Amino acid sequence: MEERASCRIVRAIFDFDEGTRNMSATGARPAGAADEAGAAQAVRQMFDSIAPRYDLLNHLLSANVDRLWWRRTARRFGPVLARPDSAILDICCGTGDLTMALLKLRPKDAKPVLAADFARGMLRRGAAKFGTRQRRISGSERKPAEPYAVAIEADALHLPLASGSLDLIVTAFGFRNLVNYEAGLREFRRVLRPGGQLGILEFSEPEGLLGRAYALYFRHLLPAIGRLICGKDGPYNYLPASVGKFPSSGEMLQMMRSAGYVECAWQPYTFGIAGLYTAVRPF
Ligand SMILES: C[S@@+](CC[C@H](N)C(=O)[O-])C[C@H]1O[C@@H](n2cnc3c(N)ncnc32)[C@H](O)[C@@H]1O
Repeated sequence: MEERASCRIVRAIFDFDEGTRNMSATGARPAGAADEAGAAQAVRQMFDSIAPRYDLLNHLLSANVDRLWWRRTARRFGPVLARPDSAILDICCGTGDLTMALLKLRPKDAKPVLAADFARGMLRRGAAKFGTRQRRISGSERKPAEPYAVAIEADALHLPLASGSLDLIVTAFGFRNLVNYEAGLREFRRVLRPGGQLGILEFSEPEGLLGRAYALYFRHLLPAIGRLICGKDGPYNYLPASVGKFPSSGEMLQMMRSAGYVECAWQPYTFGIAGLYTAVRPF
């Protein structure tokens, strides 16, 4: 009896602790944003403002390792990408580099990948890379069409897609910027088919000596280079700050399970500087 009571107390303390931690990890809050609507607007404006320099800075600051991460993420979903009729969404697609990696693994004549983002300046640059329908139907003789993607201007928290309509949702370095992580996971679950897969590529903070060395670069050198090239202070301070506030891999996996996913897993990339979360919407 006594043992059960003490178990209940321990459980209550644990639940309270989990609740408090999850509350602090509700979602992105750029400096000065008072609520979710303000935070979403600040995030959108920030990405629109850095869109012209985004690709240059991305490749420079990651020494091109970002390309390996996008390719590795796409390969993880090889079987679903290889099916021509799979319905696939790259959400928070930005300037479209993950979309391009996905397209490389799509067969000719496949259904187009959907690529969505709410920052028009980012999306426009993506759309210029990942193709248009004109390219698909050009020429008088019909040849098997090259895989392409369709750009959709949309908010990840309110997707203009039918429930249960997708086989795969992937996102690279976008999830951290959502103003409500739990709402994002719920919305992704809504539009996935039972058995549909989710992949979230995100930065993380490695531990140990390497982690400390990386933190020096990430928190001090990276914002300075970003400031120099893009001429603005905010965005490249926001990057390390938002990674620092992002839930740990354990908390993130717990959040995914609580949102109703199964087979939740995390695969660290490059000593844990980044990593891929994967999960499945159950049948
Ligand atoms: C760091 S960029 C990543 C872009 C791209 N996926 C990549 O790997 O380079 C984050 C992107 O997420 C988008 N984003 C953030 N919150 C969003 C939301 N609620 N709905 C749609 N897009 C969002 C931003 O506009 C931005 O383009």
